[in-house]
Amino acid sequence: MKMEQLYTGKAKTIYKTDDPTKLISEFRDSLTAFDGKKKSEVDKKGYYNAQITRKIYEMLEAEGIKTHLIEMVSDIDMLVDAVEIVKLEVIVRNIAAGSITRKYPMKEGTIFENPIIAFDYKSDEYGDPMLNNDIAVALGVSTYEEIEHIRNIALKINKILVDYLDERGILLPDFKLEFGRKDGDILLADEISCDTCRFWDKETGESLDKDLFRQDKGNLSKAYEEVARRIVPEIFE
Ligand code: TMP
Ligand code: ASP
Repeated sequence: MKMEQLYTGKAKTIYKTDDPTKLISEFRDSLTAFDGKKKSEVDKKGYYNAQITRKIYEMLEAEGIKTHLIEMVSDIDMLVDAVEIVKLEVIVRNIAAGSITRKYPMKEGTIFENPIIAFDYKSDEYGDPMLNNDIAVALGVSTYEEIEHIRNIALKINKILVDYLDERGILLPDFKLEFGRKDGDILLADEISCDTCRFWDKETGESLDKDLFRQDKGNLSKAYEEVARRIVPEIFE
């Protein structure tokens, strides 16, 4: 099934398959932060993130959200629809954390009355700068209608995810989504995992995500396993 490598990113590698409409996304154990300046390798990270993404995408599909997931073809290899990636990182925030607390007078832990959606221009070269609708359209990244549609899907995903994670003892301060175009449709692409979300333990407030790596503040492998135990308990049976 896996054919030539199409693209290798910081945490995943994309392969062609014998069907041009389908690709394989391989979740690797490598991870980076600060635009790739900080690098590491953590045993089983790819496995946990692949399984968490798979479970969340199946759950979202059941709630009417279209995703690129077709099926897992191994523990870490996800068969996905080939899409044209929209060059936007869609950031959804419920609780102040991370960069927003550094850029604005917002105290970490402040709960936002309304979720905040912000768009970053997906470009390592330019350091993923934040943009607004006018800049996105001027760059040719998207249309006004598409951005509005993406914003609405992101809000819907947020609502579903907050409740889903709450039932599993996890708070969702913020996360990042990416979308792709296929046959006139917008599909949720990329991943939803411990690398792309802030997950806080509901009881203790402890980080259970990549912040442990960004800030050198704990055992990443144990935290990812804990999230996997709560979201995909079946893989531990
Ligand atoms: P930030 O607080 O650093 O802006 O991150 C906001 C959310 O986006 C957080 O859940 C982590 C996620 N994120 C990514 O998935 N990829 C990235 O490159 C960055 C900077 C953040
Ligand atoms: N994924 C981004 C990078 O490497 C940043 C991050 O998640 O903090 O560099």
